[in-house]
Amino acid sequence: MKKKLIAGNWKMNGGVAANAALLEQLSAGMPANPCWVAVCAPAVYLQQVATITHGGAIAVGAQDVSAHDAGAYTGEMSAGMLRDLGIRYAIVGHSERRQYHGETDAVVALKAQKALSCGVTPIVCVGETLEEREAGKTEEVVKRQLAAVIHTNGHCISEIVVAYEPVWAIGTGKTATPEQAQEVHAVLRAQLAAATPHADRVHILYGGSMNAANAQQLLGQKDIDGGLVGGASLKAADFLTIIAAASAA
Ligand code: 13P
Repeated sequence: MKKKLIAGNWKMNGGVAANAALLEQLSAGMPANPCWVAVCAPAVYLQQVATITHGGAIAVGAQDVSAHDAGAYTGEMSAGMLRDLGIRYAIVGHSERRQYHGETDAVVALKAQKALSCGVTPIVCVGETLEEREAGKTEEVVKRQLAAVIHTNGHCISEIVVAYEPVWAIGTGKTATPEQAQEVHAVLRAQLAAATPHADRVHILYGGSMNAANAQQLLGQKDIDGGLVGGASLKAADFLTIIAAASAA
């Protein structure tokens, strides 16, 4: 079985001193044989985090990447720049970016493509809103979101990471049950399998109020290959408990 991946999404949190303290606690508490671990820091701190974690067990990720290569795109950060800093992952299509920054499936697919072309692994987020779930549209929505990325990225699709993040579970303390999550993960796995013979290699992460108490059960599901953790990734003890659960799973 492949090693699981636990990625922390710090969102717009942190500071120079707080980041250093958190990373020090994480390094000190890392299990002997850890799963894959990453922290996705705000852009302004990527260099700091990359410097501190260099050579250790914690990889670094960005929370977004531009759909363009270079040029007059004020405020944007290219995949080449991420590669330049040794950044391993970039979250693309997080629901907060889809919601607050109007990112479409097509833009998300392009961002994933730019990341892949620079050797940065995109963590492609998909997930339905509560309204969509209640209307019985969960499968339709996540498949549409992933289809755009598959269509644009063709045979490279086995190089991506997928994160299933039901919007109604993000930051709400409401977690999808392990069965609810597994059901969607299986749908996503089957969709990947139709596009690549290497679908089993793809990490499909669960995200949405994953915490120290529920991680083990979620990570015990067949198609849950790790987690994309928001709030709980800001607390060293909680994040380490999740990492320990994933390392033992
Ligand atoms: P929470 O873990 O805070 O619910 O956030 C999940 C998330 O959005 C990770 O990308």
